This record gives sequence, C-alpha cells and structure tokens, in this order.
Amino acid sequence: MKTICVLGLGYVGLPTAVMFASIGHRVTGVDTNHSILKALNNGRVHISEPGVEAMVLTAMRAGNLVVRNAPCACDVFILAVPTPVTEERRADLGDMCAAAASVVPYLKRGDLVVLESTVPPETTRSILAPILERSGMKAGADFYVAYAPERVLPGSILAELVGNDRVIGGVTEQSGLLAKELYEGFVKGRISVVDATTAEMVKVAENTFRNVNVALANELALLGEKIGVDVWEVIRLANKHPRVDILNPGPGVGGHCIPLDPWFLVEKAPEGTPLIQTAQAVNQLMPFHVLELLRRETAGVEDPEVTIFGVTYKGNVDDVRESPALAILRQVLKDGFGVRLFDPHVANLAEFQAMLTDFESAVCGSHCILVLADHKEFANLDVSRVAGLVKKKLVIDTRNCLDHAAWRSCGFRIVLLGKGDQWR
Ligand SMILES: NC(=O)c1ccc[n+]([C@@H]2O[C@H](COP(=O)([O-])OP(=O)(O)OC[C@H]3O[C@@H](n4cnc5c(N)ncnc54)[C@H](O)[C@@H]3O)[C@@H](O)[C@H]2O)c1
Repeated sequence: MKTICVLGLGYVGLPTAVMFASIGHRVTGVDTNHSILKALNNGRVHISEPGVEAMVLTAMRAGNLVVRNAPCACDVFILAVPTPVTEERRADLGDMCAAAASVVPYLKRGDLVVLESTVPPETTRSILAPILERSGMKAGADFYVAYAPERVLPGSILAELVGNDRVIGGVTEQSGLLAKELYEGFVKGRISVVDATTAEMVKVAENTFRNVNVALANELALLGEKIGVDVWEVIRLANKHPRVDILNPGPGVGGHCIPLDPWFLVEKAPEGTPLIQTAQAVNQLMPFHVLELLRRETAGVEDPEVTIFGVTYKGNVDDVRESPALAILRQVLKDGFGVRLFDPHVANLAEFQAMLTDFESAVCGSHCILVLADHKEFANLDVSRVAGLVKKKLVIDTRNCLDHAAWRSCGFRIVLLGKGDQWR
C-alpha cells in the first residue's frame, strides 16, 4: 500500500485517483477548484463519466480517498492538471508548474512524481524536474520522476484506464520502472518503458496522427465536391485496402486534444513541421466551408432560420470544447440567421443556452437543418414529423449520420459534405 497524492481531479485525475484507491492505496485527491471539492465531499461528481461516481463514493466511504485543496506528504505525486494552448499556439504550462511547485515542500527521498498531462517533448526533463529539484534533491537520484500519458476515450475512461497499453518514460531508467510497477497495479494492457522525452513525443504524435489523417479526409471531401464524387464512398472503399485507414471528414476538428496537441510539436520546430501546420490549416478551413454551403443553399431566403443538430465536437458526448459547431454558430449569427439548436447530449451551453431547445421547437419554421455532430439519436428521427414543421425541406449533413433515404422520401433535399454530384 502506498500513499498517493493526485493533483487535478478532472477527467484524467479523478478516474486515476479512484483506480488507485480501488486497489487499496491511500489516495489524497487535490484540486484548487473549491466547488469541485465541495461537490465531491457532498457525494457528487462533477464530471460526466460512466462508473466514476460509484467508485468515488465507495472509495470515500472506505476512507481510501480524501480530497483537499493542497498536497500533503505522500510516497507518490501524480500531476493531471490542464495544459491548454495559448493564443500564440504554445503550451500553457502554468498549472503544471504551479502544481509541481506545490509538491516541493512535501517531497522526500525515494518519492515518485508522475506527470500525466499532455505536454511538449522535453517538458518533464527540462521544466518539471528542475522545479522539483528546488527541494534541494536530485531528480532520478534522490527522488524519481516519470511521464505517464493518458490515452483514455471520454465515455469509456475506466475501461480504457485498465485495458489500454501505455507508454511510460522516466528521467532515469529507475524512475520509469518504478512508475511502471505502480501502474501495473490496475493496468492490464502492456506497459512500455522508455525515456521521458520519447514518451512525451509518443503521446503528441498519436493525436497529431489523427489530426493529419482527418485533414486528409477533409481535403479529399473538398475535392470530392469539386470533381463530382462521394468521398464517403471513396473512403469506405479505400479502407478495404488492408493497409489504409482514412478517418472521416467533417465540419472541423474539436475537443481539447486533437486540434491542440499538434501545436506542442510545432512550437518545438516551427520550421520543421510543415505537414502538421498544413493539416491544422486544412482542418481550420472546414467551418468556413460549411458556412459557404449554408450560404449557397439558403441564398435568396428571406429572414433565414437555421436549425443546428449537434453542437458537441463529436457524436455521443456532451463536450463542446473547441467544437467547430461553436465557431460556425457564431458566424451564422453574425450573418443574420435566426438560429435554434437541438442537442440531446447538451444541457448547458453558456452564452447560447437560450437557443438550445427541444426537437420540435428546433425544427419548427426552419429553412435548413444543419447537422454538425453525429449523435446516435439523429439516425432514427421521425422525419415525417419534421417534414410538417419546417418551412423549407433542406438538410446539410456534415457527418453523414442521417438516414438520407428516409429524409428524401419525405421530400427533403440533402446536401452531404464531401459529396459532389456524380451524375452531373
Ligand atoms: N480528458 C481527456 O480525455 C484527456 C485524455 C488524455 C490526456 N489528457 C490530458 O490530461 C490533462 C488533464 O486533462 P483533464 O481533461 O483531466 O482536465 P480537467 O480540466 O478536466 O481537470 C484538471 C483539473 O486540474 C485542476 N487544477 C488546476 N491547477 C491545479 C493545481 N495547481 N493543483 C491541483 N489541481 C489543479 C483543475 O481545477 C481541474 O479540476 C491535460 O493535459 C489533458 O490534455 C486529457
């Protein structure tokens, strides 16, 4: 049994904390946000992630998890704090540095510090370790430092924490091996141990791969529209090749990882990352392309009303961070469209809350239904109900997630992103 302090009780830190608590470690969860601590102490979990609340309650009742606003003396410190991107497209390591500094007074010989946040390569060795060495001890000799990034998928975090393979990097070999031993307590996937900088680069390379792959799909989609092919069919058939796996095009890339993490590589070598930067530019173009489709299709409509289906960055989640739908929504409002939003996964939408409404009110009087997230609910909508409510039977589907035959049979014109007119 070890004593473990987890700093940052968000989507990564809280599930990690309860996992360690569930296998018998004594875990102190630390967060600087008092409302999170208050909720947890009242038995409520602030993140929407299946299974986590039950595990938190069990661990807190058993006394294996306590929460507080500052670290305390422990054997292991795990940092899972945000690492956003600044306006200048560089990693903002402010929270990580503050969390590391808060650990220094409690650090003792033999302790292990693990960073889980996504960071630019070299951060653990060049920024985290020197902060911890303000303790007067040497990283890798007196205490141990490792980088253990997360690969979890929101919605399946608990299962993925256990089942995924992991890469762990130490500032010394011993640091990496100690972290591996710790995580083997609940990880069933294979854990590879490398140096910290390699592990950092692996994490960012994974998300950059997906970003570049989506950019390719988006570029093919724009080409498809131009030359008259259905890119969804092209990608489906190309992926039958045993070594091809192209992702789907869409209205842009969102979430707080895939669109942001590639900048962590760009900042290391602005001159040496043309492919990554081009991929970012292609993906950032997509919301503008969607706007062009909307303007083209509604040209001439007086006082146009648009209904947006889905505002999250992808289907079946409630997360709107970096969602291209929000960028599109802002511009659509500037263009003077009346807007209503229907999203069965989102209850709160800050400044756009008043536009969020139920299905029927959302489509009533609409000139265009613009689909921006592929929620499963959209596949089986009662189209005949919609047909009687809208002013114009027009759908722009940027995710290819509706039953187009059903919509067409009710008289709707379907404009599918990435689909040119093959028979023109
Ligand atoms: N969410 C994911 O699916 C995911 C997946 C892989 C990697 N990551 C990475 O993991 C890191 C954490 O992401 P997240 O989604 O859990 O973030 P989050 O915003 O959900 O949670 C982070 C928490 O850290 C707290 N915090 C900030 N500064 C602190 C400090 N000094 N001491 C203690 N707590 C502090 C915040 O109040 C917040 O509650 C990020 O680097 C992210 O890129 C996230």
